[in-house]
Amino acid sequence: MAFTCVVGLQWGDEAKGKIVDVLAPKHRYIVRFNGGANAGHTVVFEGKTFKLSILPTGILCPTAIGVVGNGVVIYPPRILEELAQLSQGGVEALDRLKISNAAHVIFPYHFEQERLSETSAGNGEAIGTTGRGIGPCYEDKASRRWAVRMGDLGDERALLARLGPIVERKNKLNRALDPQAKEFDAAVLAREYFEYGQKLKGCITDTQTLLGEAAKKGEGMLFEAAQGSLLDLDHGSYPYVTSSNSSAAGIWSGSGFAARKLDKIYGIVKAYTSRVGGGAMPTELLDGPEGIGERIRKIGREFGTVTGRPRRVGWLDAVTLRHTARLNDADTLCVMLLDVLSGLKELKIAVAYEVDGQRITDFPTDSAVLARCKPVFETLPGWSQDISTARQPADLPKEALSYLARIEELVGRPVGVASVGPDRQQTIWLKSKDGP
Ligand code: GDP
Ligand code: IMO
Ligand code: MG
Repeated sequence: MAFTCVVGLQWGDEAKGKIVDVLAPKHRYIVRFNGGANAGHTVVFEGKTFKLSILPTGILCPTAIGVVGNGVVIYPPRILEELAQLSQGGVEALDRLKISNAAHVIFPYHFEQERLSETSAGNGEAIGTTGRGIGPCYEDKASRRWAVRMGDLGDERALLARLGPIVERKNKLNRALDPQAKEFDAAVLAREYFEYGQKLKGCITDTQTLLGEAAKKGEGMLFEAAQGSLLDLDHGSYPYVTSSNSSAAGIWSGSGFAARKLDKIYGIVKAYTSRVGGGAMPTELLDGPEGIGERIRKIGREFGTVTGRPRRVGWLDAVTLRHTARLNDADTLCVMLLDVLSGLKELKIAVAYEVDGQRITDFPTDSAVLARCKPVFETLPGWSQDISTARQPADLPKEALSYLARIEELVGRPVGVASVGPDRQQTIWLKSKDGP
């Protein structure tokens, strides 16, 4: 059995969920290792659509065990809600879910902190976060003193003793920033969270040991990254990033699994670029309501799964892809939503940037430099026919195959998959006839 990673190579929403769903049956464990309910992963099969934020997408596969690793930050009611939604959709997942006792817990004061941070930011400085308490929870994790982990939810008295000084401090800080800020009561929170802990008691465990023992037995594992590598706290477009390592770099720390064992890393790439929230995006299409950007947004249904915000869209950017493919050491690229580009006369790919009179081909680490970068485009012919019914490489128009071949050349990694629609069936394996 294989150890596999699925990771986004852009700014998130690359359709990682679809590929995880396709690969899940070949793995026993499906592991989330970063982020939290800021993620929104969509899976479509047999006419049903599932949207998962905090649970591993692969838990939809009835033989899989879903693991929420120590690197994830958890708002427990969201897990319970998602389990209930799955149950309504005919998927029973509670008995197949394992949650790390070392994963950190999100409380309502984190939402308040995030609101204050985002609303106090000056013009253009807000990060445009999802409002799920992700950043403030990771801040507390790094502080060590003001944090609570899932393993702390089992003893109400100890939990209250821990929450007392934390809540007092949060109330003081939040009120200092905004006298109208919501106040919280440690006893109420301790009661509420103890109850969540009771409901999830059978799931909370030492997942690092669990995965280590399972790996020894050769059980297959799929590591499902949330967000995209350009949102990685260390390697993305800082400071307009999320607060975790959303590239494969996060696997080792966020799950305790020795990532050198990975057999295969799938780098997921949308056939164009999208981004939600603030920060520079050199290939962004700002061509108005009748323009190509709006057309792609409409056809690709580019609206955030979590917040419903319209996603910013633009041409494919090979500069960013080279950076993230190398960072993750992606073995295979999966080019998703290729069907969305059908009907466009010409397609563009950024092959370099021009900045301060110079041509550069490496992704700049300084966000101020990135904001000044102008893309250098190469133009390729588009195709007019609908490709959503294509199932094999030979069903694709030659222009689509050339587009994929050019991506391979520019990024220097093979394209193994082309996706032509949201359904499992709409997946074309380009290098091997029967899939992975
Ligand atoms: P994730 O966060 O990376 O899992 O991606 P999202 O689920 O947020 O966004 C991807 C969207 O594209 C979802 O609505 C998917 O159902 C949809 N999708 C996935 N693959 C394809 C595809 O090949 N073509 C089209 N048109 N939609 C796709
Ligand atoms: P999936 O897993 C796209 C973005 C937010 C914001 C920044 C920081 O579905 O690909 P945060 O709430 O994490 O502090 O917000 O990161 N962001 C995402 N964008 N897809 C995601 O997840 C994202 N998760 C966070 O829009 O710009
Ligand atoms: Mg998403």
